[in-house]
Amino acid sequence: MNSDIGNDRLAAIVRRAARIDADLRAHPPKPLAESDSKRLSDALLCTSNDSISPTQLFNRLRWGGQAVFVTPDRDAAARFSLRLADNGFEITQKPATVTRGPLGLPIPFFLQKTHYFVARKVQLIVPGETTDRFTYHVHLERAEAGGDYEVVKEVPSLEMVMARLRAKWPDLGDEVIEKRARKFSDKIFPVFLTREAAILKIVNRDLPETYRGRVPSLLKLEKDDRGYARRLHLSWLRNGGEQLSQMEFARQSADLLRALHDDVGIMHLDLRLDNFVITPAGVGFVDFGSAVRADENLKQSPLLSNLFEELMRTSEIQRMLFRMTKTGEVTSEAISGGLHKVDKAVDYFYLAMQISSPHANPDLKDLIRYDKQGREAKLLSKLTDQILRPADPAKPPFKSAGDILRGIEDLKSAETRAGRADSEKSGNVEIFTPDLKS
Ligand SMILES: Nc1ncnc2c1ncn2[C@@H]1O[C@H](COP(=O)(O)OP(=O)(O)OP(=O)(O)O)[C@@H](O)[C@H]1O
Ligand SMILES: [Mg+2]
Repeated sequence: MNSDIGNDRLAAIVRRAARIDADLRAHPPKPLAESDSKRLSDALLCTSNDSISPTQLFNRLRWGGQAVFVTPDRDAAARFSLRLADNGFEITQKPATVTRGPLGLPIPFFLQKTHYFVARKVQLIVPGETTDRFTYHVHLERAEAGGDYEVVKEVPSLEMVMARLRAKWPDLGDEVIEKRARKFSDKIFPVFLTREAAILKIVNRDLPETYRGRVPSLLKLEKDDRGYARRLHLSWLRNGGEQLSQMEFARQSADLLRALHDDVGIMHLDLRLDNFVITPAGVGFVDFGSAVRADENLKQSPLLSNLFEELMRTSEIQRMLFRMTKTGEVTSEAISGGLHKVDKAVDYFYLAMQISSPHANPDLKDLIRYDKQGREAKLLSKLTDQILRPADPAKPPFKSAGDILRGIEDLKSAETRAGRADSEKSGNVEIFTPDLKS
């Protein structure tokens, strides 16, 4: 794969890097050229011959994914590691030199030097870029060298907020931008982050044991001098593991939402796919920043009632609900009753939307088996139609996450029965074919 560095040498370097990194042992790096460029990787092996830019490498890796970079040029290793460090990576193994003879033996007269380092993607977006997908500054960090990675979610700096507002409203003057940005970074974001910490404490306490690994645990809370949360440290629910069928993705999502609504008594209110994860423990939800307790009286606080009123008019989910009730795509009165309100319907409305089109998110795409023309997709899309537009809008059969879960389970068991019948049929063919021939 590489004209300068033999495959044996590359393999030896990967072994060496993996010796001190359990993560590289769990996710053996794949040569960049051999990896599927349409999928995100957990670990890649690159050489200077690949001539990849930091941003290209960033976009090929999952969050938390690592790259082992190998080059015969010492300066190239140093330079590229510095560029990666500036572009959303943490250097987990500093540039080092491997000295080996042609047969892999340390023969003094024929020494070849190879240089390598290891870098991990720790930022969500390339620094300096702005996105509408995320609000806070969220990155991966280790409390101590060699320890486990945690997710750190913090209030973005004034500069970051200003950059984002500028990108969104290029015509606004500097003064207005700064004033608005201050309001967000001094007040609104700290208020929501403080609420998120409090909600997570409740979720961590009350969510039944079987679902625990599927929401973040609040590991540490750092406050500013006014007592507002400034930085949350959360357990990292790392995307990965086996692919789920679309039906299983739907079932687990509905089940987790049911547990949050009915067992814990909280509404999430921002169930966009960006806030889903798929881990070996199953489908999880993150980002409890807009969540509200079912029995909470937001009216008690003028600040909160204003903020939520605004959120329930402007959030992506509410805007979609508004549009769809106007066009007649949502007729269920159980759901349209949640329009502009803090209501569980907001969650199960969006859940129904996500399960019928689960591939909109680049981080989850590889982890859900989805065939738009396939049988499962058609069944789930029909279910979503019934949830949104029931025969009698005043008496919708789906009025909760629990109802949707039961709907999915019914579909699943019908599918299993159909699958069994199919395999029995094909079994018959196998049994009878030899007889027919004889
Ligand atoms: N504990 C976690 N485990 C795994 N991934 C996480 C975790 N927390 C956050 N993430 C990832 O980071 C992204 C951003 O975090 P989060 O959604 O909490 O903040 P945000 O999107 O900035 O907040 P908001 O949605 O309120 O704008 C998530 O979409 C998810 O991909
Ligand atoms: Mg989010």
